[in-house]
Amino acid sequence: MSTPADRARVDGPAKVAGLAPYAYEHPVPDPLYLFPVLAGIARGEITDLDTTAAEAVDGVELVLTHRTAPRLRVRLVPTLSILQSTTVRYRGEIVGAVVARTPEAARHAASLVRVEYAEHPHLAGLDEDHPAIRTPLQVMGARGRQSHGDVDAALREAAYRVQESYRTPQNVHNPIEPHAVTARWEGRSRGSAGGTRVTLWESNQGPLPSQSLVAGAFGLLPGQVEVVAPYVGGSFGTKGMPHPHVILTVMAARALPGRSVKTTLTRPQMFAGTGYRPASTQRVALAADAQGRLTGIEHDTLAPVSRVLAWADPTLNVTRMMYAAPARRTAYRQLQLDVAPGSFMRAPGEYTGMFALETAMDELAHTAGIDPIELRRRNEPGTDPESGKEWSSRHLMACLDEGRRVFGFTPSARTRTEGAWRLGMGVAAATFPMQYFAPSLARITFTGGGYVVSLQASDIGTGAWTVLPQIAAQALGVPVEQVRADIGASARPAAMIAGGSSGTYTWGGAIIEAARAFRARHGARPVEGATVRARGRMPAGMRKRSRHAFGAHFAEVAVDDLSGEVRVRRLYGHYDAGRIINPRTARSQFVGGMTMGLSGALHEEAYRDPRFGHVVTQDLASYHIAAHADVLEVGAGWVDEPDPWFGPTGAKGIGEIGIVGVAAAIGNAIFDATGTRLRELPFTPARVLEALDG
Ligand code: MOS
Repeated sequence: MSTPADRARVDGPAKVAGLAPYAYEHPVPDPLYLFPVLAGIARGEITDLDTTAAEAVDGVELVLTHRTAPRLRVRLVPTLSILQSTTVRYRGEIVGAVVARTPEAARHAASLVRVEYAEHPHLAGLDEDHPAIRTPLQVMGARGRQSHGDVDAALREAAYRVQESYRTPQNVHNPIEPHAVTARWEGRSRGSAGGTRVTLWESNQGPLPSQSLVAGAFGLLPGQVEVVAPYVGGSFGTKGMPHPHVILTVMAARALPGRSVKTTLTRPQMFAGTGYRPASTQRVALAADAQGRLTGIEHDTLAPVSRVLAWADPTLNVTRMMYAAPARRTAYRQLQLDVAPGSFMRAPGEYTGMFALETAMDELAHTAGIDPIELRRRNEPGTDPESGKEWSSRHLMACLDEGRRVFGFTPSARTRTEGAWRLGMGVAAATFPMQYFAPSLARITFTGGGYVVSLQASDIGTGAWTVLPQIAAQALGVPVEQVRADIGASARPAAMIAGGSSGTYTWGGAIIEAARAFRARHGARPVEGATVRARGRMPAGMRKRSRHAFGAHFAEVAVDDLSGEVRVRRLYGHYDAGRIINPRTARSQFVGGMTMGLSGALHEEAYRDPRFGHVVTQDLASYHIAAHADVLEVGAGWVDEPDPWFGPTGAKGIGEIGIVGVAAAIGNAIFDATGTRLRELPFTPARVLEALDG
């Protein structure tokens, strides 16, 4: 069961030949093009609208505003409830759309829609002393505040202590393929919806959310909405749930039955309203005894939440389970703003929280004069500190020790230079939880001498087309060449979205069940058309274990103390991610996560202007991301120990753990190189210079 099988991506040739259709590219006859109109104020009411000039543009077929849009049946998600009233809740909210025969005509006409507003006072900046800051009861199902033991006493009596603040900026997802959807509404558009069929070719992480939300909003049954997404040009959480442009496009398609309406968002539109990683201001206090054993851990985080939808990252989950300490206190703090809501963005919470915790751990190691890996060994908990549960498996120390060896981790405490460059190394630990929510279904059919595995899974670039047949082939006991996947559409057995790094083990569990059921019913020599559908099952007693992936990140940096430039010369991650099913696609996930972490550490920072409520850095010229020249040597290795508590694949999930500890490892390396501690992301030349001068 644990023999890794290298396999190149089966979708690679179609992608590089331009033959893999993305959401905007599916060949449809005579398409129309939609361009949205976004609110130009942060909060208020629309007092007047003039669409005459837009309607007069040659090629315009439809102008949608709150006056002409259909009423939505169900308002499940407040953000999706667009064009239902005159109220503007955030800058960049959709207030209209133009549909035309060319994208150029639609865009031009949209610019001619005149909207008059009555502006109301708004709050769009995170004032850290604002009286309205509150601790929520819950963040993503976990308690808003947790406390065990006496942290204040632990801090008073500590032999070594660290008490610092850490800041992370708003980050914004930028998959290469922007949000896009092509929608066609066939049949009746008014009155009884019987006989209606809606087809969405959409860029998503799974068809289920769009199918059910669109059906609910327009008074249809889920079976009347077909969602197709065979190829997705990247997603890191932002395409997990549909955004307002999907509802807008279906509204337009409904008004133009039989026509296909295409929408693709521009980069600035994606910065306005398709989710983001919220900024955070965190305080961490660590108390340790003379041997470096933690006696107290305190961690709180302040983050903005949208008044429209209170999305918050679960920033403190990592601190609640990572290290043993008798006294622990964690609390979320939130301030409601008149802004678009945040959303899942690769390791939401873990990335942000571990930057603070793992920087603080490095500070403790230096304060106490203990090797940073040894410090973590001394604080390795036997069971989950918060829940008391046994670990399903925890090979963190193996990751740190083996990573140290492979990387050659030899911090030098400001002794290595190379011309103007100061060189240093840093390490940080990583963790990511199991996010199993619900079972998936899978169908296996024998046809044409081979097996077809069908389920709703979307391949967001992670390799589902490639690895799902590998899982099926192993379970069926046949060569992988005899199995192909049939995924990326709602008309397949229902499956979880590709989210929470849970796709492979959740889908794979269903596939293994289906393979066993197939063999039981049809034997080793099935007849043409033999088929079985099965539901994935997780091991009994699973919830009695604390289930997490682990990892260790190592960075080597060069810091120019004249310019403040940081170069990450080497990055390495060693992972406990359970069984590795395909080393090639796994490596790609790990290296991709580390690259995103490097980008977040050095460059990514969205600036929202509190006066107007919008992100000013709304394109890739001003919101900087790592370019190829920034990414030098990035490597990944793994422990490869299957974890049976994650289901029958033994895999723990690899999509998110790769980003988690990277920013801390880079910051810790900067400290090794310069003796200067940076506690605010990203580590831009300006911040590095300021810290060096301070
Ligand atoms: Mo991922 S941020 O769980 O889609």
